Amino acid sequence: MTDQTATPAKDRVLIFDTTLRDGEQSPGATMTHAEKLEIAQLLDEMGVDIIEAGFPIASEGDFEAVKAIAEQAKDATICGLARANLTDIDRCWEAVKHARSPRIHTFIGTSPLHRAIPNLTQDEMAERIHQTVTHARNLCDNVQWSPMDATRTEWDYLRRVVEIAIGAGATTINIPDTVGYTAPVESADLIRRLIDEVEGAEDVIFATHCHNDLGMATANALAAVAGGARQIECTINGLGERAGNTALEEVVMALRTRGDIMPFETGVDTTKIMNISRRVAAVSGFSVQYNKAIVGKNAFAHESGIHQDGMLKNAQTFEIMRPEDIGLSESNLVMGKHSGRAALRAKLKELGYELGDNELKDAFVRFKALADRKKEVYDEDLIALMTDAQIEAEGEHLRLKFLRVICGTEAPQSADLTLTVEGTDHQVTATGDGPVDAVFNAIKRVFPHGARLQLYQVHAVTGGTDAQATVSVRMEEAGRIVTGQAADTDTVVASAKAYIAALNRLIVRRGKTGTDAREISYKDVS
Ligand code: KIV
Ligand code: ZN
Repeated sequence: MTDQTATPAKDRVLIFDTTLRDGEQSPGATMTHAEKLEIAQLLDEMGVDIIEAGFPIASEGDFEAVKAIAEQAKDATICGLARANLTDIDRCWEAVKHARSPRIHTFIGTSPLHRAIPNLTQDEMAERIHQTVTHARNLCDNVQWSPMDATRTEWDYLRRVVEIAIGAGATTINIPDTVGYTAPVESADLIRRLIDEVEGAEDVIFATHCHNDLGMATANALAAVAGGARQIECTINGLGERAGNTALEEVVMALRTRGDIMPFETGVDTTKIMNISRRVAAVSGFSVQYNKAIVGKNAFAHESGIHQDGMLKNAQTFEIMRPEDIGLSESNLVMGKHSGRAALRAKLKELGYELGDNELKDAFVRFKALADRKKEVYDEDLIALMTDAQIEAEGEHLRLKFLRVICGTEAPQSADLTLTVEGTDHQVTATGDGPVDAVFNAIKRVFPHGARLQLYQVHAVTGGTDAQATVSVRMEEAGRIVTGQAADTDTVVASAKAYIAALNRLIVRRGKTGTDAREISYKDVS
């Protein structure tokens, strides 16, 4: 018989994922309806406890996405965000009520700077909190309340409003470090003090929500858990506004790896981490930095001679986690031009893509074309190929038909391009300061637009001179931000395709009605 006192039951920490709300709020990270549903399903399957699916009042699109995610959810609680007013809360409830387990999350900025925005006195804001939390609780048994910018709110006022929210029926109190200002010692102390001093604290779960402006989001979240928080709010890849949020993969793997000093467990199946990380990077257009903890390309790479030698003798010499713990397969080399359709289907399934027969047929044609140009096709190549296919499937108003670029030491470089616009071919030649500039000028000549290029990034998908290049572009037009990504063994062709993918998304978004989530101010509580 096991001695229960020698190994006390581990405390459970709830994982609240806000990739689809706080993450998607990051300029340029906009996801389509289908992409949001896919990510929500992956989060549910990996064992995330609560999914914050969106901000239903922000737009018709957000509302529909939260509702559809609520309807499809199997195990996870589905949460929607609402500002501190009755209209927001009603709209949120309309979306989440379809879930097996719904939650309303309502918030208001309580720090002096945030209180000044709606111009409410402390008493008026306290009254507003009582009224809105009561209203939310009358609709739903599961209500989360957040004092936004809690870490810069005066202690006495914070304690007072947390007590009001608990008294009005909140079941989770989330303490946001909205601007990433706090530090680990302070983060732990704040939660500890709230639990010790707030009346009714024992009836609620305290949550921590950290931003990464000073690079301390993960440390602050774990410190809050040490202080008594039992819910961590986080996003996949740390996606989120500015420097992002606490990264789910970091807190989950830290708790798992250092259970000796942090005896807490989560319900997350860590072997699903790598797949969802790749999918979020692909659909958000925010690629993961190579040296990012846990999910970066180099996180498990051991290139220096000393490291390799040690690794061959005993993997634990330099590895504190095993690649397979996060779902990273041992062998990365997969396919070549002799691989068949069944092998491609199996490999794509392993990478998280379940394809129907027609989709597989299309993927196989693309794969063969790539394998003809590239001897070895790696997992990353296949992911890039699938991302291209998905972007094209969203709506192909523009398509690259032909491209030839003349470049060399003599300027200007020129691009000879044929672009198919709504089924009609247009041929044009343009010059520019470098081949990519010439190509973008040519596209703009055929399809004039006012979008501003905010970001242009090239990554080699794998090693070698025949490696594919993935190009990401971010463009902005009248407040709408879109991203485009494409891969090709020719960097200039990948650039043209990424630019066209972004323009296609822009055309889709121009046609959409409703307010964009980012056009609604989170600070506006009226
Ligand atoms: O960072 C923040 O304060 C938020 C709230 C809306 C919870 O995201
Ligand atoms: Zn936030």
